[in-house]
Amino acid sequence: MPAQIINGRKISEEIKKEVKQKKEALFNETGIVPGLAFILVGDNPASQVYVNMKGKACEELGFYSVTIKLPAQTTEDELIEKIKTLNNDSKIHGILVQLPLPSHIDEQKILQAIDPIKDVDGFHPVNVGKLVIGLDTYLPCTPAGIQELLKRSDINPSGKHVVVVGRSNIVGKPIANILLQKRDWANATVTVCHTGTRDIAYFTRQADILIVAMGKPEFIKGDMIKPGAVVIDVGVNRIDDPNVEKGYRIVGDVHFESAFEVAGAITPVPGGVGPMTIAMLMKNTLQAALNQIKVKELAN
Ligand code: GUN
Repeated sequence: MPAQIINGRKISEEIKKEVKQKKEALFNETGIVPGLAFILVGDNPASQVYVNMKGKACEELGFYSVTIKLPAQTTEDELIEKIKTLNNDSKIHGILVQLPLPSHIDEQKILQAIDPIKDVDGFHPVNVGKLVIGLDTYLPCTPAGIQELLKRSDINPSGKHVVVVGRSNIVGKPIANILLQKRDWANATVTVCHTGTRDIAYFTRQADILIVAMGKPEFIKGDMIKPGAVVIDVGVNRIDDPNVEKGYRIVGDVHFESAFEVAGAITPVPGGVGPMTIAMLMKNTLQAALNQIKVKELAN
């Protein structure tokens, strides 16, 4: 039986609707509008598309947003100065520096300049540490979106073997840490595969839930998947296709057609994990506004 398709677009719309309602209640009570600042350095076309989409979501939900576009040759010090200004701007509750940054900039230095309470990406070491030890914090948006997709599709990872392929700081490491927590909608046995893993298929075939974030187009084929497994495809890859007008198409890290025949459920690309990332960013930004209101109240 072919797989159930997990519709990330539909689920993300539900989440955005819930966030919008909460944002309106917050505004009615306090007059405060959640504000998010985007910093985009250089002219990476994919980053421009992502920041545009995130800005549109802010508009749709009635959030305040600003996009700061800086040239590729911006120095680390200039970028840190911008971040400091945003840290002190009370209209801004969340700061997002779109990654990747140009190679002359030390990504960690930049991420550490963001005030952890405004770190809606959950990339600051303080928030990464909180996640690892199981404290409440901002969860990185893509992994948080994956957990939410599972939850709203009634797929409970508890007691299951989750195999993650990819160990990036943005997806692989945080999703592994989220799903191994002793919490609801987590509590999984987690295996992480990466470029140093000798036989990836040996591990992927054991997965009840397979999460693929390796950045290799259509790498995971149907014969690498256990029948009935849940497959979450985080990949977004452009491949040439002379048969379509644009000359290319977007595919995931999973070969969809063969995986669809074997899996129990699968996320499509596009329309799976991607829209969830943006919905969770909106959720984190609303939470950031609430956290900052609480801190101000405590100070008064
Ligand atoms: N680049 C790819 N994914 C992300 C993300 O979730 N946040 C940021 N800031 N940059 C990214």
